[in-house]
Order: sequence, then structure tokens, then C-alpha cells
Amino acid sequence: MKILLDTANTKSIEEILPYFPIAGFTTNPTILSKESENVRETLLKMMELANGKLMIHAQVTAADTAAIVEQAKELKQFIGDNFYAKIPMTLQGLRAIPLCKAQGINCTVTAIFTPMQALMAGLAGADYVAPYVDRLDNITSNGVNVVKEIVDLFHIYNLDTQVLAASFKNVQQVYNVASMGAHAVTVNTDLCMKLLFHPYTDKSLEDFEIDWSARFRNQEITDLLK
Ligand code: G3P
Repeated sequence: MKILLDTANTKSIEEILPYFPIAGFTTNPTILSKESENVRETLLKMMELANGKLMIHAQVTAADTAAIVEQAKELKQFIGDNFYAKIPMTLQGLRAIPLCKAQGINCTVTAIFTPMQALMAGLAGADYVAPYVDRLDNITSNGVNVVKEIVDLFHIYNLDTQVLAASFKNVQQVYNVASMGAHAVTVNTDLCMKLLFHPYTDKSLEDFEIDWSARFRNQEITDLLK
């Protein structure tokens, strides 16, 4: 499973990137609107951090098919081959998918809330679909089940489209979609840190430290090889 960072905050990306096996970044208009007005600069910094290797999924702001394809082309020229055009799950967006793919542009269809939406995007040739887990949970639906249904559908129909589950508020949701076979998740940097946390891990390390220094004071294990 791939882990992506759902943020355009380059400072927090920089803090986390050296530690986690991150496969890329995702943004949407809301995420970019929280950062500098200089979107070009933000994207350039994200590109520098991606170093041509990590994926950058950036969402188009256009609504109609021709404009979606034009924006996707321009964004790909700007970002490079690791760019994925995030295209909204609309009628116009659906039509844009094969047109983008014909131009060699990777497509991630976003704002997915049902398995049928995902299947349509997959049949149209999307590389990824992004179902919104927490937003589904918040309307008394079941985001994790929707992810599972999409994974199953793609398997039944032998589609190469991958599920990039999005919109998480807690570790359990991330774990649940991981166990359902989601191919990728995108999480904010705070939640990414929480994926590691367990108080017993911290306690165990404290205990190791206490026991070791009681016996060997400030020596390291490698000092004792000499
Ligand atoms: O990538 C989509 C995601 O950003 C939506 O998440 O937390 O706004 O529901 P959220």
C-alpha cells in the first residue's frame, strides 16, 4: 500500500518526508487555498521535494471537459511525468478522462462517494479513484465498506485502476481500508505521525533505557564489543 501526504504545506512535508516511506502528495482547491497565494511557488517547492520520483496529484479547477483537459496538459508540462491530474467525478470530468489519457496524462478521479462512480471512472481509464472515507462516515454511511466494494469491483472486472482512499480523521479508518486492500491512502501529516504512535512502544523504550543504564551506565552496546 502506498502512503501519500494530503497537504500542500511544504514545511510539514519537509518535516515528515525523511522518516516515512511516502509515495507522493495530493492537493485539492481547499488544501491549496490554505497555503501561500503564490500557488506556482508552492507547487515548485512540492516538485523539489518530490524530486521527480514521488507522485504529485494536483486537482484541476475547471468544470467543463475541454478546460479540464487544457489545465491537465498545462499542469503536466509544469510538474512533469510524476503528475496526476485530479479530475472531479462529474459528467464533464468523466468525459475528460479518456481525453487526458490519450495525451499521456495520468488521471485520479476525486470526490468519489459510491462504488458505481468508481466503476465508471475505472472503465473510463482512470489510474486512481479517490473515495472520501470520513465524509462518508459523517453522513452515516460507511466509508471503509465503500472502499472495500470498490476494491472488489476493480478485482471482479480486472481493472488496473487503483484505489487511493482519502479523507481520514483517525488511524482506525486508515487501518481498516488497508486491511480491505486499498492500494493507496492519502493522509495529512498529523495523522501520518499518529500511524506510528503507541504508548506501550514509548514505555518499552523507556524501560530498556532504564535497565541498560542501571547495568552499563552510559556505555553503548558497541563499546562493549571492544
Ligand atoms: O483528498 C481529499 C481529501 O483532502 C478530503 O479530505 O479531510 O477534507 O474530508 P477531508
